[in-house]
Amino acid sequence: MMPRELVRTDGKPDRDDSAESDSMKIGPPVIHPTAIISEQAEIGAGTHIWAFAQVREYAVIGDHCNIGKGVYVDARVQIGSNVKIQNNVSVFEGVTVADGVFIGPHVCFTNDLFPRAINLDGTLKGAEDWLITPTEVEYGASIGAAAVVRCGVTIGRFALVGAGAIVTRDVAPHALVVGSPARQIGYVCRCAYLLERVHEEDGRLLGFCPRCDLVRDITP
Ligand SMILES: CC(C)(COP(=O)(O)OP(=O)(O)OC[C@H]1O[C@@H](n2cnc3c(N)ncnc32)[C@H](O)[C@@H]1OP(=O)(O)O)[C@@H](O)C(=O)NCCC(=O)NCCS
Ligand SMILES: [Zn+2]
Repeated sequence: MMPRELVRTDGKPDRDDSAESDSMKIGPPVIHPTAIISEQAEIGAGTHIWAFAQVREYAVIGDHCNIGKGVYVDARVQIGSNVKIQNNVSVFEGVTVADGVFIGPHVCFTNDLFPRAINLDGTLKGAEDWLITPTEVEYGASIGAAAVVRCGVTIGRFALVGAGAIVTRDVAPHALVVGSPARQIGYVCRCAYLLERVHEEDGRLLGFCPRCDLVRDITP
């Protein structure tokens, strides 16, 4: 099968959605009556927040997101637009989620690399007694169901984390990682399908997507 076009670079969308996005922006967020949303949180236009979700103070959620049942969004978390977060995900302080990210059901982020409930003297730790280690999820990335993301990592743009993975290291853009600890087993397209014949050419990393029928430039 011949690719439709030689190389589709990573920087541009495959089709122009700008007109559609503008019309979709009309309308306030839609929030289920059982969701608990802090008055200090910011929720973008057209975002749906489903039953029993909680969004804490100073969290920011962009436009046209879907925040599933029982999702917890901690204080000061930043979530972009067009993000889908499935049921029962916990997004803790220190996590930043870019536009277009998919987070599967029961995914658990973390933010304390060396957790303890108590100080050395046995007293309960307060907010100032521990350090947040930040985590980034870049544009278009997907995280499979029930994955655990150890804090301090970056999940690169359009990367795909397999279901149940435990992510302990940075994930390269377009990488497919699975297992515990998560290891890279290939590269995926923007559409999430496995890329074939991944190779370097003129300093670029290229791979063929049989689903899109084109060669993707996935140069990090
Ligand atoms: C990782 C994933 C994309 C791979 O899909 P695929 O290319 O069709 O995978 P295959 O079934 O061909 O499996 C390829 C190999 O990887 C292994 N594998 C697949 N998914 C795996 C996972 N999540 N963890 C560990 N190993 C996995 C398979 O066992 C197989 O190994 P083998 O060759 O030794 O038998 C897919 O399995 C996955 O986890 N998708 C995410 C699903 C999800 O959580 N969606 C969220 C919304 S419901
Ligand atoms: Zn594709």
